[in-house]
Amino acid sequence: MIDGQRLRTKIVSTGSYLPERILTNQDLERIVDTSDQWILERTGIRERHIASDTQSVSDLAIEAARTAISRAAISVDSIDLIIVATITGDMPVPATACFLQRSIGAHNAAAFDINAACSGFLYALSVANAYILAGLYRRILVVGAETLSKFTDWEDRNTCVLFGDGAGAVIVEGVEGDNGILSIDIYSDGTMAELLHMPGGGSKHPPTSDTINNRMHYIKMKGNETFKVAVRTLEKLVTDALTKNDLTASDLALLIPHQANMRIISATAARLGVDMDKVMVNLHRCGNTSAASIAIALDEAVVAGRVKPDDIILLEAFGGGLTWASALIRW
Ligand code: UT7
Repeated sequence: MIDGQRLRTKIVSTGSYLPERILTNQDLERIVDTSDQWILERTGIRERHIASDTQSVSDLAIEAARTAISRAAISVDSIDLIIVATITGDMPVPATACFLQRSIGAHNAAAFDINAACSGFLYALSVANAYILAGLYRRILVVGAETLSKFTDWEDRNTCVLFGDGAGAVIVEGVEGDNGILSIDIYSDGTMAELLHMPGGGSKHPPTSDTINNRMHYIKMKGNETFKVAVRTLEKLVTDALTKNDLTASDLALLIPHQANMRIISATAARLGVDMDKVMVNLHRCGNTSAASIAIALDEAVVAGRVKPDDIILLEAFGGGLTWASALIRW
């Protein structure tokens, strides 16, 4: 509370970027033993955007960040902190957020990355929220960005049909009043770490010719097991978020889920009792962009006029770690 007013973290602008190149299901039929029908029925994905050979993840992040900054009509000098959620950083060191800081010229900002896989954007938003509510920073750039295509095993049909590249960004600020983040919750369960992981390239298996030959530098996922845990976990996650804020599903103007699988999205909406016309879906065009997915979907919803002042929206994610997270926001 400041002068009797509650301080909240408010998303004041959004931006997103999708690389130009599009890879369709028909294109994938020529690469691995799959079919448009299988991909569509099992995932809901029709196509995904793929970064060019020369685009790294910071290049995508920069485009999304520039849009968010210009829409907020702020000076880059006023940004106190940059947080980038990604599992496909430009390089292990330094943080992708530092490359982003350099490119946009945000000289006064601290910058670091967060790895929480597909929950990364909401993890980053929760950190930004905590800094703002603690009074340490006033204005923060939060980005979710991925170039999963660079770490996809294009010989593995179990995973290569799922992922896409892209970036989404928001500017958040501390604002007095009732609008902004009402609650944000993050969770992890490391006992299931191997359901979704990239085993090679870290200190456990540093890069060698063996790790390369054994294809250890690609993302591996036990899809079916992950699917089951996701459906189970997300139902409780979204219900808890509403209950702790004395709200029900009927109060929601829009549900913005992580875009991993249409069957997971529909199951969560059905269990909540939310009509699909109140669910933001871009999975068919974007595939699973991990940490970028909610940030891109949020931006597209805002641009399409699907989020209006005072609307209650619920963001939810589930991914590698395992990690999961939700954010309930009064826009
Ligand atoms: O974003 C972070 C979290 N990730 C998720 O939440 C993703 C969760 N998982 C999923 O979305 C789904 O599990 C997948 C889409 C990955 C897979 O769908 P599924 O219904 O769970 O399929 P499955 O893995 O059980 O495989 C069923 C069959 C298998 O064949 P058999 O063993 O039954 O003969 C697979 O080999 O489908 C086969 N299959 C494919 N067939 C054609 C697997 N991938 C493909 C493919 N094309 N691309």
